Amino acid sequence: MKKLLITGGAGFIGSHVVRLFVNKYPDCLIVNLDKLTYAGNLANLKDVENKPNYEFVKGDIVDGDFILKLFEQHRFDGVIHLAAESHVDRSISNPTEFVFTNVIGTVNLLNAARAIWKGNTKDKLFYHVSTDEVYGSLGNEGMFTETTAYDPHSPYSASKASSDHFVRAYHDTFGLPVVISNCSNNYGSFQFPEKLIPLFINNIKNNKPLPVYGKGENVRDWLWVEDHARAIDVIFHKGTKGETYNIGGHNEWKNIDLIKVLCTIMDRKLGRKEGTSEKLITYVTDRAGHDLRYAIDSGKLQKELGWVPSLQFEEGIEKTIEWYLENEEWLKQVTSGKYQKYYENMYKNR
Ligand code: NAD
Ligand code: DAU
Repeated sequence: MKKLLITGGAGFIGSHVVRLFVNKYPDCLIVNLDKLTYAGNLANLKDVENKPNYEFVKGDIVDGDFILKLFEQHRFDGVIHLAAESHVDRSISNPTEFVFTNVIGTVNLLNAARAIWKGNTKDKLFYHVSTDEVYGSLGNEGMFTETTAYDPHSPYSASKASSDHFVRAYHDTFGLPVVISNCSNNYGSFQFPEKLIPLFINNIKNNKPLPVYGKGENVRDWLWVEDHARAIDVIFHKGTKGETYNIGGHNEWKNIDLIKVLCTIMDRKLGRKEGTSEKLITYVTDRAGHDLRYAIDSGKLQKELGWVPSLQFEEGIEKTIEWYLENEEWLKQVTSGKYQKYYENMYKNR
């Protein structure tokens, strides 16, 4: 049986990747390694936890000795590395945590893969999941391609850029078989409500203010999370070693326009008079170093590997809102306790 390590599998995107691989590849053992930080939640994987080809390991990628032992024990054939500190606002409050997990954690995994695989790398692959934020910020025109120069602005994107450089350096210096993908903003089920879409859905539901940073004019390119998971599957199995692939939805939205769509759909779903939720919009102090616009050119992935997004945004956002409304218990669980403190601290001085 082949063994695949997925890191960060209890998080938002990781849980969708684990679900896809466990169900699609019954002859491959999927080991999900996750520290279960505030963002990691085993409830995201209830439907696969008893499958015979799934195993969960709680652990920290920052602990190099532990990671090496895990690789020695399992001798993985492949790695899909998603574990990370992922929220830009938290990286502004506490940058160091991002260096530990995103940079040192990634280097620990690279070292362990290198130690185990040695020269025997023919059927091995280290897949590093990264972000479009490493490319910096666009003006009104243009798109990020795989050759766009790195220009990160937040501690989060700087840490992800650094990890990408290490992954490439291990390929170029040690011949480690790697592949990297850089994806745009994801949306869908199981996303922790610190990120724009689930946070605003939760606030609209609870009649709380909707804190729009700056003038709401920043643009993001939104991709349905299950399409990201499908892209990872395609790249993992068909991608060329040493290459980078951009993944995006060709689906750009100005924040304020997207927020108004959320308000309209939520009014309809909650049986509120049209225009009710928009009244919750509150403009607050902008995010420091806020990138104006991201847009991904995923032409290489589409042409070379045949991936295309499956879902139109209009359908995806309806499905997503329905999911958060139907999964009240999940939302309640993740927004209790520490979340309340986080919210207070993050938004009190804006
Ligand atoms: P997330 O914050 O929802 O999940 C991160 C997971 O990593 C959690 O389960 C957490 O417990 C785990 N983790 C954190 N630190 C760890 C550590 N030290 N050791 C082991 N596990 C640890 O993140 P996400 O939004 O699912 O993002 C997953 C990956 O995809 C990240 O690498 C992120 O940079 C990248 N990405 C995210 C997006 C997006 O829109 N969310 C877009 C492009 C790329
Ligand atoms: O582009 C990919 C990236 O997308 C990923 O690498 C990150 O892990 C992921 O968090 C996401 O980063 P963003 O910063 O773009 O996502 P976020 O949901 O935090 O914010 C989206 C936009 O909404 C951004 O312009 C900031 C704005 N915003 C966000 C929050 C949380 C607000 O106006 N108010 C808010 O309260």
